[in-house]
Amino acid sequence: MEELAEANENTRKSYDLVAEKYHELFKNEMKQKEFDRLLLDEFAKHFDSESTICDMGCGPSGHIAKHLYDKGLNVFGIDISEKCIEIAQRENSEMKFQTMDMTSLQIADEAIDGIISFYSIIHTPKQFVKVFFREFNRVLRKGGRILVVVKKGDTEGYVDRLLGYKTRIYSTYFNEEEIKGFLETNGFRIILSETRQPYEFEIPNERIYTIGEKL
Ligand SMILES: C[S@@+](CC[C@H](N)C(=O)[O-])C[C@H]1O[C@@H](n2cnc3c(N)ncnc32)[C@H](O)[C@@H]1O
Repeated sequence: MEELAEANENTRKSYDLVAEKYHELFKNEMKQKEFDRLLLDEFAKHFDSESTICDMGCGPSGHIAKHLYDKGLNVFGIDISEKCIEIAQRENSEMKFQTMDMTSLQIADEAIDGIISFYSIIHTPKQFVKVFFREFNRVLRKGGRILVVVKKGDTEGYVDRLLGYKTRIYSTYFNEEEIKGFLETNGFRIILSETRQPYEFEIPNERIYTIGEKL
């Protein structure tokens, strides 16, 4: 597990470094991503104002959580990077954000109704990704739903740049079967698995969207 701790630490440091730039680049991206908005709107229909949803690895803008919050849902965000949480809180003062590691969530068993994870499992060696799904299963109530989004590809390993900054961060790509497998082997049934082509302003990888329901 030393390798996992090292990857986590590299992620934390890297996002502390790039958080302000990330925010400037991506804070308004939902306006340009109709597919994501429509899917989130569908996902939101499964919940009501009593439901609690966690945006896992919410990043510095908290913009995806905010999209659901604006639909009247009770959403909070967590992220391993303190700087990301500081900015997300500054930009969304009406919402709650907390520094937390998805490999050991400080959330009680079956305490929440929904999870969104947009590109937050992508900085971890694939052999450890199951740890996230175990935690997601533990904190979700039975019947709770999760939406996981990743980039499609077949490589993984350390890279030395993030948004133009020199750093060291792990980068992992997935295929649809792998994400379905992580969900199915960790107590979820698959509700939806879809891909979309990248928008012209995105890194040119297909995107994979998977919704699971806790059994
Ligand atoms: C590519 S960014 C995505 C941010 C946001 N979800 C979005 O789509 O814009 C990945 C985020 O996941 C967070 N992250 C990665 N590993 C994490 C972990 N083990 N626990 C909590 N957050 C993590 C990073 O700090 C970063 O903010």
